[in-house]
Amino acid sequence: MIEPRKRLYPTILCILLGLLEQTQVVRAGSSNSLMDINPSGTLLAVANPDCGTVSLVDLSTRMKKGEIPVGKKPEGVTFLGAGKLLAVAVFSEDVLVLVDTETQKVIKRIACADEPYGIVSSATGDRVWVTHDYPGKVSEWETVGWTRLREIPVASFVRGLAMSPDEKSLFVTGFYNGRLHKVDLASGVVVDEWKGHSTDNLSRSLVVHPRRPKAYLPHVRSRIEVIDGSGSIFPQITVYSTNKDAPGTRRASVPMDNFNGVLVVTNPWEAALTPDATGLFVIYSATDDMNACRVIDDDYREIEGRGNLIQVGKNPRAVRVSPDGKTVWVYAAMDFAVQGFDTQSLRSVAKVVVCDKLPDEQWVHGKYLFGSSRQPMSGPRWVSCFSCHPDGLTDGRVWHNPEGLRKTPPLFGMGHTHPLHWSADRDEVQDFEYTIRGRLMQGRGLINGPIPNKRGFTPTERKADLAGRSKDLDALAIYSNSFEVETLSPYSEGPGKLSEKAKRGKIHFESPTVGCATCHSGPYFTDSNLKVAKVHDVGTGLSDKTEQMGTKYDTPSLIGLYRTAPYLHHGKAQTLEAVLTTNNPDDRHGKTSHLSKEEIQELGEFLKSLPYEFPPRQTANSVKYRLMKTGEK
Ligand code: HEC
Ligand code: HEC
Repeated sequence: MIEPRKRLYPTILCILLGLLEQTQVVRAGSSNSLMDINPSGTLLAVANPDCGTVSLVDLSTRMKKGEIPVGKKPEGVTFLGAGKLLAVAVFSEDVLVLVDTETQKVIKRIACADEPYGIVSSATGDRVWVTHDYPGKVSEWETVGWTRLREIPVASFVRGLAMSPDEKSLFVTGFYNGRLHKVDLASGVVVDEWKGHSTDNLSRSLVVHPRRPKAYLPHVRSRIEVIDGSGSIFPQITVYSTNKDAPGTRRASVPMDNFNGVLVVTNPWEAALTPDATGLFVIYSATDDMNACRVIDDDYREIEGRGNLIQVGKNPRAVRVSPDGKTVWVYAAMDFAVQGFDTQSLRSVAKVVVCDKLPDEQWVHGKYLFGSSRQPMSGPRWVSCFSCHPDGLTDGRVWHNPEGLRKTPPLFGMGHTHPLHWSADRDEVQDFEYTIRGRLMQGRGLINGPIPNKRGFTPTERKADLAGRSKDLDALAIYSNSFEVETLSPYSEGPGKLSEKAKRGKIHFESPTVGCATCHSGPYFTDSNLKVAKVHDVGTGLSDKTEQMGTKYDTPSLIGLYRTAPYLHHGKAQTLEAVLTTNNPDDRHGKTSHLSKEEIQELGEFLKSLPYEFPPRQTANSVKYRLMKTGEK
């Protein structure tokens, strides 16, 4: 028999530990987001990627307090502890910007590695960590002198970032695979990794439970074998069990498509836990809505729905809960506004417009349509253009299209490189009315009335002149054609400069014997031309038995290749070297067989360095429907 006293001590200890645990709450700033709220709950900061600013909202008056220009595409923002300073990750400029929220001035710009995306700070604000999407690492900074302490390689393409509650480790998500990586901060190495489902994609944020070993990742699933409005893209919340010896798979993935009965949601983009971690809010950027969920501690269902799906503003991109747990804030990016909802009643309590100077109106409308899976873009509500072309990037997938295997191309520079599609079967973005009305999206479409009927694989689209027939469709074209080349390759050595190795590669590229520049010509490295159709058989067409469009392809632009593997229309080349060697056995794709291994590497180095200078925004082949810079018209 155990003495009563011996029994009592552990019980008291348990209660005390329990109480201590109860005080562990979720800080809004412990995970990456476009929004953060300071610990006292008086100030909300929101980064506006399309305005290049950070806005401050006074949460006691619920009024905009100011807007501070920070640079091109801020993607993350975090308060430094309880103080007045704010750190911002500016994606397209490779800088961290420090803002004083009292004077509303930028007080420091700190050069950092490429593509800073997510940013979080320690609770005291003495340290900051940043994810760098490409090449896939985390940088660590001290915030007194802003020296970089470490750069920790994690995996390729990392975006989501969250602090563990004990601040001893960081959790990082893989953008293109939904994997979770745990970085131990004492040793600075990745100590654990959780794999998602093979179809998991576009995982750019996560939140971590303060007391239980759980990480919640919103993301999509891209089912490349299925080209169908209700089978290609799925909305998921994956809940990873982050203790090492969790039973079973260490992963529960909750399908959000049937979470609200028949109402499908699209593109889960971010989630937020309430401070006490009893509630989880999830926003869906393509259906303009939000789920309120209860967190269940059962290691099985993990979350359950609460109330109806909540309608929010256009294109929600961020969600955070106030430190008192009373208000959930949503950033409706295409309304350029933050909205507050009561966390209990789920009623709307505030809406604050946060940007003064909005981008071009048609461009904004086009961006909204591109990111929407609601009518007139899609009937079944599963798929938006954005689901495969997130912010103009590739989704990294090779789709099993009816016409054959097709890698999703990035859209940067596209306003100058028409015709469109690998087989050049479209000559204007307005032709994507066929995609909207087709099996993939099953939308009503943006043109009133019928369009020429498409039969089989004949390129009807090239003959159908759809430009100018619908303001909405023209807006979609303006948005899609305006992804200009804004950043140089990290492999270039500054504007106009190449490394010695890349310089040698450039000589091979331009040599008449090797012949690359005959097709990959001009500032966008393509001979694509709207007036003279030029497609080439470079010997790559026969390896895919499902090909229906012939073996001639449009010459792709080579800009940004360093971050767009796999290569070729069918994605069968994993590396640039593989394009030039195993995928070019008969020298039909330039003459490469006589090149030594070293020369191939030099050529590869040159290709990876593109762009090393900014291409012009006006060429003889530039299209009309795109954003012009002032004076260009
Ligand atoms: C299921 C994924 C998916 C969806 C959804 C999707 N696309 Fe695409 N997109 C692709 C793939 C794959 C290709 C390459 C197809 C080809 O070349 O035949 C492509 C090619 C393109 C291109 C051609 C780029 C170039 O340089 O040749 C444009 C423009 C484009 N898509 C725009 C859109 C628009 C607009 C929408 C929405 C109406 C959309 N896409 C929806 C996957 C998708
Ligand atoms: C006859 C015209 C032609 C020549 C010459 C040529 N290319 Fe290409 N290139 C193309 C075409 C067409 C494609 C698309 C083929 C496909 O996807 O199957 C392509 C695709 C590529 C790609 C893949 C791009 C991507 O985004 O997937 C790379 C890289 C490339 N070429 C580099 C080169 C290099 C380097 C050379 C010289 C050794 C070269 N090309 C010579 C026409 C040409």
